[in-house]
Amino acid sequence: IIDELASKNGHLMIGGVDSVDLAKKYGTPLYVFDVASIRSQIRKFKLAFEQAGLKYQVSYASKAFAVKAIYQVMKQEDVHIDVVSGGELYTALAAGFPSDKISFHGNNKSFEELEMAVKNHVGVIMLDNFHEIELLARILKTDDEKINVMLRLTPGISAHTHKYDQTGQTDSKFGFDVESGQAKKAMQLVLENKRMNLLGIHAHIGSQIFGTQGFIMLAKKMIEIAKNLQKEFNYWPQVINLGGGFGISYNEADDPITAQEFISQIANELKQSCDDVPEIWIEPGRSIVGPAGYTLYTIGSRKDIPNLPPYISVDGGMGDNIRPALYQAKYEAVVANKMGQENIETAHIAGKYCESGDILIDKQELPETKVGDILAILDTGAYGYSMAMNYNRNPRPAVVFVENGQDKLVVKRENYQDLISLDRDY
Ligand code: LLP
Repeated sequence: IIDELASKNGHLMIGGVDSVDLAKKYGTPLYVFDVASIRSQIRKFKLAFEQAGLKYQVSYASKAFAVKAIYQVMKQEDVHIDVVSGGELYTALAAGFPSDKISFHGNNKSFEELEMAVKNHVGVIMLDNFHEIELLARILKTDDEKINVMLRLTPGISAHTHKYDQTGQTDSKFGFDVESGQAKKAMQLVLENKRMNLLGIHAHIGSQIFGTQGFIMLAKKMIEIAKNLQKEFNYWPQVINLGGGFGISYNEADDPITAQEFISQIANELKQSCDDVPEIWIEPGRSIVGPAGYTLYTIGSRKDIPNLPPYISVDGGMGDNIRPALYQAKYEAVVANKMGQENIETAHIAGKYCESGDILIDKQELPETKVGDILAILDTGAYGYSMAMNYNRNPRPAVVFVENGQDKLVVKRENYQDLISLDRDY
């Protein structure tokens, strides 16, 4: 597919823009997002729901990539968003994102964060634990201060993914446990509080999930839980939120489910299990922004070792993409100024950070390369910039959006002055 993106001069094209020109104009490392790809993924989710005949809401899980410009794209696409901190909420509001389309998640929201959410009238607060129910009850001082809430449940379903990316199993820090009766207790507390309007129930089983099976089990389980709650409290949820976690293809071995497959299968399951199917919300993060993102680096030093693959180093690394070091995530790269050239060797792509573990790609096939070539790592749009850091006091890269042959800087590159701006003399 990527070869089709190459232009006639052998340069990688992103959203109709020459990536090598972008590297020259903005410097490297550089995050580049193809905005049309983001819009198209959102539209696929929406279309799949419409074809399945379900009432729905798509809520972008903004932890995957949270800057003003992406919130503005989400506003244009008329979807909801999730935030998980005061900082994400602040960014979304500063971007002009409508507060009534914001869901506020997190397993330890502070009093101040909850207060900020209430003051700004967020659409729904996802309650995660008893402490939060208590904090929120304290914040809602008068009867006209009403807020929508949903309960995050731990349904006892685990997804087959990296253990750091599993969240639905009973032994998890997130949500009210269903088996032990915590969920029932929480439901009772919320239903008794007239200032909280219980919109429904939520569960998220993990991230980077490939099969539909876990989601089907989850859909089934959520209906079963809803039926029990109906018996107990005569309450039927208006919304069931099935979380996010749809995997993307980082390399050939990955075989993700399409939005279409996933949604049509859960729709069948839901329609079979009950007559009054609630509105279904999903919260994809990675699948919306991941494939749209590219990171451009400049190739620098090279170390050849007899009979072993060489180390080719780039001007970024674990500070702009922690995922290989943290999750052993596998990426693929192309040489952006040598598209279509024959591969001649397999190399380790190393970052510039002072850690042996700072290897961005363990084994990458490459054409002949030299200092100054531009390496583009693909599918870096999710959990790249959002998890970026200043280790070794490297400034974080700039972010550029491209669409219809136009490029726009949406996050400035950090400079050395920025790095010391919070430091104070001693
Ligand atoms: N909803 C909830 C409640 C979540 O906790 C998450 C992700 C999502 C939705 C979105 O999941 P997605 O569709 O993006 O898979 N940093 C890790 C991923 C952490 C995911 C945390 N929660 C990574 O880079 O793989």
